[in-house]
Amino acid sequence: MQWRAAGESIALVPTMGNLHAGHISLMQMAKQHATHIVASIFVNPLQFGPTEDFARYPRTETADSEKLTAAGVEALFLPSVDELLPHGLTDTTFVEVPALSYQLCGQFRPGHFRGVTTIVSKLLNCVQPNVVIFGEKDWQQLCCIRTMIQDLHLPTELLGGTTIRETDGLALSSRNQYLSATDRARAPLLYQVLQQIKSCLKAGDRCYHDLTATADATLKSSGFEPQYISICQAETLLPADTADHDLVILAAAYLGTTRLIDNIHCIL
Ligand code: PAF
Repeated sequence: MQWRAAGESIALVPTMGNLHAGHISLMQMAKQHATHIVASIFVNPLQFGPTEDFARYPRTETADSEKLTAAGVEALFLPSVDELLPHGLTDTTFVEVPALSYQLCGQFRPGHFRGVTTIVSKLLNCVQPNVVIFGEKDWQQLCCIRTMIQDLHLPTELLGGTTIRETDGLALSSRNQYLSATDRARAPLLYQVLQQIKSCLKAGDRCYHDLTATADATLKSSGFEPQYISICQAETLLPADTADHDLVILAAAYLGTTRLIDNIHCIL
């Protein structure tokens, strides 16, 4: 690439398209860290389970490419499934971070993080960016990719972008559009229970089990089906100990047929 030959830096923002203000904020962040921004759009079949929403995942490439141009993105990488997975979905070489891939979301989405790290390693090899940026909303994904980059000595710096929220607190996500009007009105409770846990932690309450059990009951009483609510060490994602100070509170819950995730970083 000419840019690289001229010694100019490149930031990559990988996405699955259907871009919203959260993605655009990552593009803005990219501008602060590199001369050129490349966005990728690839709806990655490896990270969807057999009963998940791969087929109906919203594909809006024309609108996405207009948003990217307006955000100052100069290049869009739009590989096909055959290009990124020439040996098919099962015979590909996989990249996996076992220590971080099986707990939390990984427990409920077998193979998901292996699918993410495999595709992200391919995107990094294809684009060879100096910097790569992901949203903190997918905290576990960020942890997996950080460890993959370290373990494979990849020459790319990883940055995490702050979660962008609706005014009522709901984290932006392409999947929010699946919510019915009633469920959309209830959805901010997920963030509220995480904030409640954070306030208790800040006030010195270290009864992690009770804090998460209360949040679980609150969500259930409002029609959520929580999969997990956990207080973990922010980088290792191991269950937090009372001596830990760098924590993340993470949750995943179904509301109707829509699976929502959210998290709050909490430094004590
Ligand atoms: O966060 C996403 O949109 C996807 O998981 C990613 C990182 C683009 C990999 O397919």
